[in-house]
Amino acid sequence: MEKSSSHIHPIFDQLLQRSDKEKLLQQKSCVLWMTGLSGSGKSTIAKGLERKLHESGYLSYVLDGDNVRTGINANLGFSEEDRLENIRRIAEISKLFVQSGVICINSFVSPTKDIRQQAKDIIGSDDFIEIYINASFDVCAQRDVKGLYKKALAGEIKNFTGLDAPFEAPENADIEIKTAEISIEAAVNQVYEQIIQRIKY
Ligand code: ADX
Repeated sequence: MEKSSSHIHPIFDQLLQRSDKEKLLQQKSCVLWMTGLSGSGKSTIAKGLERKLHESGYLSYVLDGDNVRTGINANLGFSEEDRLENIRRIAEISKLFVQSGVICINSFVSPTKDIRQQAKDIIGSDDFIEIYINASFDVCAQRDVKGLYKKALAGEIKNFTGLDAPFEAPENADIEIKTAEISIEAAVNQVYEQIIQRIKY
C-alpha cells in the first residue's frame, strides 16, 4: 500500500474554470429567472426556450417545481419561510450550473421582491436575468391547468399565491412577457431574441 501522502499533488493551479467550460460549450452561461403566478406560462415557455436553444446549439437546463419540489426540496411547503428556503436552494443549484457553463432556465413563482433579491444576491447580478411572465390572477384562474385555482378558491389550499399569499410583480424585470396577448411560440421567440446576445460566445 502506498502512503496516502504520495497521492497529494499541487493541482490547484490546474483547476478548470468557468471560462474553460464556456469555451468548450461555446456559450456564455447565466440564469434566466422566470417569475410569475402559477399557470402564467413560465414552465411552458421555459421548456420551449430550452428546445429552441438546444436546436441552436446551446446547452441549457430547466429547473422548475416538478423536478425540484419533488426531489431536493420535497420537504418544503408554501409558507413564506419554506418558499424562501426553496428559492435559496434553487439559487445555489443554479450557481453551480452557471459555473459549469450551462444556461440555467428557472421557472418558479418566487412571489416576493425579497425572495427574488435573495436569488439575485446568491447568483450575482451579472448572471441573473429576471423575466416576468405576466398573466393576471383572473387569466390564470380561467386557465387553471392544474385545477389548483378551483381548489384554492374553494378554500382547500391555504397560502395560495395571488389569493391569500402575496405576489409582488417585478418593477424592473429585464424582460416582460404578457402571455394573455401572445402565443407560446411568440413568447419563446421574444425571450430568445432578447437573450441571444447575452449567451453568444
Ligand atoms: S415558490 O413560491 O416557492 O417559488 P414554486 O414555483 O416552487 O413556488 O411552486 C409553485 C407551484 O406549486 C405552482 O405552480 C403550483 O403548481 C404549486 N402550488 C401548490 N400549492 C401552492 C400555493 N399555495 N401557492 C402557489 N403554488 C402552489
